[in-house]
This record gives sequence, structure tokens and C-alpha cells, in this order.
Amino acid sequence: MLSETMLVATASLLFSIFFLHLISFLSLLAAVSAASTAGEGGEFSLAVNYLLACGRTSSVSVDGGRIFLPDSSSSSTVSLSFPRLSSYSISTPQHFHPTPLYRSARIFRRPSSYSFPLPSSSSSSSSYSPSPLVLRLHFLPLSNGSFSFSISVSGLPLLSYFTPSCCSTNVLEFLLPISPPSPLLLSFTPSSPSSLAFVNAIELLSSPSSILPFHDTAPASPVLQLLYRVNVGGPAITPANDTLWRSWTPDSSFLVTPSVANAVSFPGWINYPKGGATPLDAPKPVYSTAQVLNLEQSSGSNSFVSSSPINSNLTWVFPIPSSNHGYFVRMHFCDIVSPVLNQLFFDVYINKYSVSTDLDLSFQGGFNLASPYYIDHFVGSNVSGHIQVDVGPSKRSLPERANAILNGLEIYRINGAAIFHPNFRKKELLAVVFIGFFLGTSFFLFVLVVLIVLACQKWRSQRLSCPIDSSAQCSPLPVFSGNSYSRIIEMATPRAVAFSTSNLSLKIPLSEILLATNYFQEQFQIGSGGFGKVYKGILRDGTPIAVKRGARGSQQGLQEFRAEVELLTKIRHRHLVSLIGYCTEQSEMILAYEFMGKGPLRSHLYGANHNPPLSWKQRLHVCIGSARGLHYLHTCSCQPIIHRDVKSTNILIDEKYIAKVADFGLSRMGPHLNQTHVSTCVKGSFGYLDPEYFKTQQLTEKSDVYSFGVVMLEVLCARPVIDQSLPWEQINLAEWSVHCLNKGNLDRIVDPCLKGKVDSMSLKKFGETAERCLAQYGVDRPAMGDVLWNLEYVLQIHESKHCQQSLSQQC
Ligand SMILES: *[C@@H]1O[C@H](CO)[C@@H](O)[C@H](O)[C@H]1NC(C)=O
Ligand SMILES: *[C@@H]1O[C@H](CO)[C@@H](O)[C@H](O)[C@H]1NC(C)=O
Ligand SMILES: *[C@@H]1O[C@H](CO)[C@@H](O)[C@H](O)[C@H]1NC(C)=O
Ligand SMILES: *[C@@H]1O[C@H](CO)[C@@H](O)[C@H](O)[C@H]1NC(C)=O
Repeated sequence: MLSETMLVATASLLFSIFFLHLISFLSLLAAVSAASTAGEGGEFSLAVNYLLACGRTSSVSVDGGRIFLPDSSSSSTVSLSFPRLSSYSISTPQHFHPTPLYRSARIFRRPSSYSFPLPSSSSSSSSYSPSPLVLRLHFLPLSNGSFSFSISVSGLPLLSYFTPSCCSTNVLEFLLPISPPSPLLLSFTPSSPSSLAFVNAIELLSSPSSILPFHDTAPASPVLQLLYRVNVGGPAITPANDTLWRSWTPDSSFLVTPSVANAVSFPGWINYPKGGATPLDAPKPVYSTAQVLNLEQSSGSNSFVSSSPINSNLTWVFPIPSSNHGYFVRMHFCDIVSPVLNQLFFDVYINKYSVSTDLDLSFQGGFNLASPYYIDHFVGSNVSGHIQVDVGPSKRSLPERANAILNGLEIYRINGAAIFHPNFRKKELLAVVFIGFFLGTSFFLFVLVVLIVLACQKWRSQRLSCPIDSSAQCSPLPVFSGNSYSRIIEMATPRAVAFSTSNLSLKIPLSEILLATNYFQEQFQIGSGGFGKVYKGILRDGTPIAVKRGARGSQQGLQEFRAEVELLTKIRHRHLVSLIGYCTEQSEMILAYEFMGKGPLRSHLYGANHNPPLSWKQRLHVCIGSARGLHYLHTCSCQPIIHRDVKSTNILIDEKYIAKVADFGLSRMGPHLNQTHVSTCVKGSFGYLDPEYFKTQQLTEKSDVYSFGVVMLEVLCARPVIDQSLPWEQINLAEWSVHCLNKGNLDRIVDPCLKGKVDSMSLKKFGETAERCLAQYGVDRPAMGDVLWNLEYVLQIHESKHCQQSLSQQC
């Protein structure tokens, strides 16, 4: 009886808990779906939609029903600072321009701003989530008057010394990646007291996040300024016909190969793929027209027998202003010409670099024809006044089907990093998701425990009669490797560069590298070498990195790069500079290493602007550290790794004065690179070259030992290995030092900074070790392990003598 009431009580308790959790679980589902639609831009709402006709007194309807409000209306939430004092409005008669927007303007004599309240992130309007904003400014100057001004948004400069061109409309469009704090201040500042600023109309709109090339809206995402938006092969598209009131221009003035280009248009249905490009990215008229190389060969009629398809590139050239920051190019594709799937394969190039090879729109469109797809590409800052876009048939396509297509193109200038504070709405959403998830999971765990306890009891009771097949319980969960349709840059990576999964964790997206190095800005360059340029960068988590950007090139280069990454990921040692990541997107060959704050050893020894000299103890620690690193390379695997380029600029020192060996990855690249390597040695690292290697071309670990001996002498003498300014017998450090050491004349060569501070015994032992490293024949040189042992011995001598000295001084 008692147990029955207890059972009922437990059951009702369980039921109430169940309902509580059901509710929390449903809220979790709601939150997750809200988060995902906000993130994907699937449900896009115009949370911000300001349309201002500046200088007008009444509102005006343009583009089929968009109402532009006057900027001086008292009912408007937009306010203008200093309207009376510094600005005035003008309007012109109808014949001046057919569009009413351009017949009025507001003119500013002094810095003035419009203030646009934005929906606050904490407000109750649940439809609002932080999304990029589009800012469109319309200008049509009345005369060649002294219009010159700068434009900024909430303190962030967008454009300086802007002079709109006379006699035509100027539309500037900016993408603000994250919403600035409310209210947004749009400021116009005349360049000089005698110049004026003006604006005819302003549009400030929310836009879906898919229009940005970045994976997420990072706090430092840059502002983008539209340069070109082209409907390739089709007519101009006016704002009224675009999903986001954009204008698209025809491509004819940019096409440099009109003789091989055929404009096509497609009357059928455009299949926007699930999770891919949407009509908000580009409307149907963009995707349903294109330029192709060869017209479709209709399979039925052979009346027009195609003699031979054209095998050439379709090329467009876009003049661009110079910029410190680089450009973002989005190319729109849609296979509107193929009669069946998987016939069209083509290559895409930007500035003659391969962006995509064997691009198969059938595959990218989820095996649908007429399915839109776009590729995002970053172009570095070193572009020579134009961006060239090529599409051409791939080698893989059948000759009679060779073709290439382009439907649309957008080019943006990257205008430096934004400094707006990020919105925190996402975090709140996350908190809801987290709490919901926590409650939901705890409920499931509870139910699971109850079930298990019940099952156990049942099992115990049935144990003797019914044995359980334990293996059936342990089958692994099925793994679904679906094609998650990520549309961003990853897709543009050539398939041939796919790496083994073990290295995937080291892969860094190109967008991260671009942010870290501020788009490979020249101020961030810290060196250059045979491999390419080296930049300093800071990852978003604050980690400083050294970014080595290889000259982009062939598949061959990529294979070697791949071999190097595989080697570098296997080798980790405290005294070897370690690899933080790599990037192969868009044919880039980028390696990111840990950043070594104190730079190369050489800069601590001598040179034009060298650092304060290192103490003898510091020098010994540097030598011991780098000897350890080399010893590890020589012994870490069954096949020794030979550095081949040991020199004082390849030994780097970090903030804590720990020495690490750099550049060892390049040493094992393919045979033809050896060739270039030897030639750079002969040119650049001559003083370090093992004479035996030079004579026999046979490389052993002992060649590294020889070079290390030279580095030890540099440390001892603090002078360049080759110094042409000295008498001829002293020019070569190795020869001169060996000569002096043989004669027991150590004092002649030791760095004057060390004289008197260092015990002669430790100097002598150090000199002897270096001399043995420089033996004529490899067999006579010590192994790196012996060198290491000797250096530690030298350090011991130094420290014990030092100790004795200080003790005797104390006494
Ligand atoms: C503005 O300057 C251009 C050339 O500099 C000239 O052709 C045009 O007539 C000028 N327009 C006005 C309104 O002065
Ligand atoms: C744009 O829309 C108008 C009607 O709103 C239509 O007549 C015109 O053909 C459209 N243009 C294009 C390029 O689709
Ligand atoms: C197309 O252009 C690329 C890059 O400029 C070039 O490598 C390729 O050979 C060209 N293809 C043809 C068929 O001209
Ligand atoms: C830009 O590229 C050209 C050749 O492509 C090269 O000569 C020049 O040095 C580069 N400039 C910079 C700043 O990288």
C-alpha cells in the first residue's frame, strides 16, 4: 500500500519534471532556429531602412514605390546637426535631371552630420539581429564648383577629398560589416574652409550577411566600398529590378575579348540552391544572362556544324584606384548553356593567378542546371592599376564541349578595419541556447539514468534465461558526411591541394591571415627571401605570428609546399621555430610561424642598427639552444634532416632570449629547388658553405656542423663572415679565425665587448670547439651532439669561474 502511493507520487513528480524540460527544450529549438536564420540570412528583414531625399521639402517616390523622405521633416527620427548655421538646401528645375532625387541637394559649409537611430540590440524587436548595413550616397554636382569633402561614419573615415564628377550621377556604396553603436553618425566635412560638401540622397539599409566575404562579423572586419557591379552579358539592371535596390551595369566596356564572347540569355527558371546563393546575393536577371565562349551546340540539329570551338579566354579588365588594403572580388556563375549536367568545366583566373581549375557548376549547384554559385576572392594590394578576370575552358573538358561562362561580377575596395564595437545580441542568444541546452540535456540524462536502472533490474532478473549480445550495443554511430554547402572561399580551393586530415587543425582561413597582416600591408613586412615575403601579423586571439607568403605558382610548387607542411607538422622542438598554421586558399602558399620577438641572432652581434651586445652567458645559451635544435633535426628520425642553410640570420631569438632555428623546412624540398638553394648559398651565404660539400656536392649532417662552426665564430668575434673592408687575409672570418686559433692568437679576434669580462679558459675551449667544426673533412668534425656537449662544458667553466670571482670579491 505504502509503496503504491510512493509510486504514484514519483510518477507525478516525473511528469512535472518532464513538462518543465519539454518547455525548456522547445525554447532551445526556437532559439536555435532563430539563431540559424539570423546567421544564414535566410529570413532577412529590413530592420534598418532609411531613405532620405536631402534638401527636399516633400517626400518623393522613386524606383517603383520607394518613398524618400525629406531630410528636414520634423516628424523624422533622423536629425541633422547644425542645420541652420551651416547648411542650406537647393533645388533645380525639372529639366536638370529626370530623377527628382537629383534635383535637390543639401549643401554643407561646415562639418555636419546626420544622426540615424538604429534598433538597439537589447530592444524587444526580436526580428532585429546584427547585420551588415549598406550605405548608398547619391551625388550630382550642380556645377564644377568647389566641392571637395570627406565622408565618415561614426568617426570611421570612408572617403577623403571626394570630388564628385560633374555632369553625371555619382553613387557611392559602402558595406558596413557590423552595425555601429546607435545612433549612426554620417558626417560630411568640407576639405578646406573654401570648399563645400553636399549630398542629394542617402540610403541606409540592412542587408543579409551573405553579402560579406567574411565568415563572421569580427570586430575588425573592414568596410568595403563598391567599385564595380556588373551584369555580364546582360542589360543594365536598375534598383527597381534588384532584390536589394542595387544597380548592375553591362560588361561591354570592360570586356577586352569581344571577338570570342557570345552574350546569352536564358528564359527559364533559375534554381537557387538550398544553402547556396540566394536572390538577395544576385537577382534572376543577373544569373539568366552571361557571356560564354562558344554558343550551345544543340545536340539535335547539325545544320550549323560547328567547325571547331574557340579555345581562348574570355577576359575583362577593370581599372582600379590604388589602395593600401586590397580588393574583394565576387564572381557569379550559373550554367544556363549546358543541355545536360557535367559538361561544362572551366578555369577561372584573377590577375592571371588561378582561382579555380576545372570548375564544375553542375557539382557546385547540387547537380542542377541553371543553379547559381559564386566565388569570393581577395586580391592583394600590389595590383598594377587594374584587375583582370579571365575564364577559359579547362583541360579536362572534351574539345567539342570546351566552353567558359561568367554571369556577374562585383569588385569592392577594402577600406581598412572598422572600429565599431560589436553588438552583443548574439551572445544573449547564445545564453538562451546554452540554458535551454543545459536543461534539455539534464532531462535526457535523467530519463536515461532511469531507463538504465530499470533495464539493469530487468536484466538482472532475466540474466539466467537470456544472455545479452554485448557487441550489438557497441556498434559505432553512423557518420553522416553530407555536403555541407558552404559557399565561402573554401570552395574556391583547388581540389588538388586537399591535405591529409591530420593537418587540418593547422589550416588557417585566408581571411584570418588577411586580417592578421592588415591585407599584407607593407608596414607589416619584416623581411623577404628566396621563398617570398615575410610579414608580422597578429591573430584575432592576440597571438603574434610571422607570415611567410610564398610566391604563388604552379602545381609543382604546391606539392613541395605540401611536403614542407607535412614535415613541419611532424617536427616540434623547443629550439626549432614552430609552425602555427598554413593556408593554401586561392593558390596562396602561406606559412604562419610563431613570432620571434628579438629577431635574428645576427642583429644582436653586429650590423648597422644592431641591438645592445649580448653577454657571454647569453651568447652561450643561444649557441647551446640552436645546437640542441640542430642536434634534434639530425637525430629525430631515421633519415636525418639536414638544414643546409645554418647562419646567424636563421637563428632567431624570442622575448625570453631563447634561441630557435628557423627555415629548416625549406631544406628538404624537391631536387630542383636544391639547385636554387645552392645558388643562393653561393650568392648570399658564401661564408658558411662547407668546402667539402662545395667540392663533392655530397651533403651530410657535417655540412651543418661546419656552418654552425662559422656561427660560433661570429658569436665569438661579432663580425660579418665576409667583410670586404678588412685586409685580404682577414676578409673570410672562418679562414682568418682558424689561422689565429692555430697560432694561439685568440685575443686578436675576440669581440672587444667581451675582453676582460670573460675567463680565458672558457673562451679557449669555445674557440677550440669552433675550430674542430671547421675541419677540412666532414669525418674530422664532431657530431652536433658533441658540439652541444662541449658548449655546455664551456658554460660550466664560465659559471664556476664567475662564481669563484664573485666569491673572492665578497671575501
Ligand atoms: C565642368 O568642367 C568640364 C571640364 O573640366 C567642362 O566640360 C564643363 O563644361 C564644366 N561644367 C560647368 C557647369 O562648368
Ligand atoms: C525591370 O522592371 C520593369 C518593370 O518593373 C520591366 O518592364 C523591365 O523589363 C525590367 N528590366 C529588366 C532588365 O528586367
Ligand atoms: C587563360 O589565361 C590564363 C592566365 O592568364 C593563362 O594561363 C591561360 O593559358 C589562358 N588560356 C588560354 C586558352 O588562353
Ligand atoms: C608589385 O609587383 C611587381 C611585379 O608584378 C613587382 O615588380 C613589384 O616589386 C611589386 N611591388 C610590391 C610593393 O610588392
